[in-house]
Amino acid sequence: MDDIFSAIQRSAIRIKEAIDTKDIGYSQQENSSGETQLQLDIKCDMIIEEEFSQVPSINTIASEEKEHSVALRESGKYFIAYDPLDGSSLIDVNLSVGSIFGIYENSFNSKNMVAACYVVYGPRVEMVFAHNKVKMHLLQGGDFEFVKEIRLGEKGKLNAPGGTQQNWAPFHKELVDSFFKEGYRLRYSGGMVPDLHQILLKGGGIFSYPATSDAPQGKLRKLFEVFPFAFIFQKAGGDAIDGCGDLLALDCCDVHERAVCFFGSNYEIARVKEVYAKQR
Ligand code: AHG
Repeated sequence: MDDIFSAIQRSAIRIKEAIDTKDIGYSQQENSSGETQLQLDIKCDMIIEEEFSQVPSINTIASEEKEHSVALRESGKYFIAYDPLDGSSLIDVNLSVGSIFGIYENSFNSKNMVAACYVVYGPRVEMVFAHNKVKMHLLQGGDFEFVKEIRLGEKGKLNAPGGTQQNWAPFHKELVDSFFKEGYRLRYSGGMVPDLHQILLKGGGIFSYPATSDAPQGKLRKLFEVFPFAFIFQKAGGDAIDGCGDLLALDCCDVHERAVCFFGSNYEIARVKEVYAKQR
C-alpha cells in the first residue's frame, strides 16, 4: 500500500502544477458521462495513469475520464478507481477541486475496498488517506507531512444539499429543511471533495445527493466518488447510506454506475434513514 500512497502523492504534486499553469480550455471530447472534458481533466488523468503504471502492486485502473478500465499488470492485486479532477468546472471560478481514489483488492467490488483517498487542491493542498484510520497530510515544501487523524463527532452543524431543489422529492425537501430549522448552516460549493472535506474537518454534518426527477440514480458515480467517500466516512466514525442501507453493500455492474448518497455523522444519517424508511 505504501507504493500506492507515494504514487498518489507524486500525482497530486503534478496535478497541482497543472492546475496552476495549464490552459483550461475545453477539449473536443466527452467523457463516459457525456460531459465535455477539459484539457485539464485529460492531463490529470494521464498524470495518474503514468504514476500508477509504475507501481507493481496495481493490477487494473478505472478512471472517470475513461470509458473502460485499463489492465496494467496481471500480477498486481490492487484495482484502483479514480476521479482525476472532481469538480473541474469550478476551476474557472477558482474554487477548490479534488482527486478521489478508491482502492480495491482483486476486483471493483465495494466489499473488497481496502483503502480510499482524496486530495483537495485549495488554498492548501491536503491529502486524506483512509486505511485503518483516516489521516490527513499537508503538502509543504514539496512533501506531504502528516497533520492529524480525522474523527467525526456524533452530530455536526453543516448541511450540504446537492442537486436542483425543484427536482427533489417533497419528502427530501422536508428533510433538508428540517436540518436548517434545527440550526444547521448551508455549506455547499458544488465540489464534492471540498464540501465533504469541510464536514470531516468541522466534526460533522450532512452531505446529500438525492434521486432527482431528471436523475433517478443521483449524479455521483459509485466507483469514483461514492464508494471512496463512504469508506472514508465510515472509517472516520460517521456513516454513508443510499437512503436506506449501507452504500458499501451496493453492487456495481458498470464502471460508470451512479448512486443516491448521503454522507455524514451518525445523528444526521439516522434522521435520513428514518425519513427514507417511511417512503418504502
Ligand atoms: P463536475 O465534476 O462535473 O464539476 O461535478 C462535480 C460533482 C461533485 O463534485 C458535486 O458534489 C456535484 O457534482 C455537484 O452537483 P450539483 O451542482 O448538481 O449539486
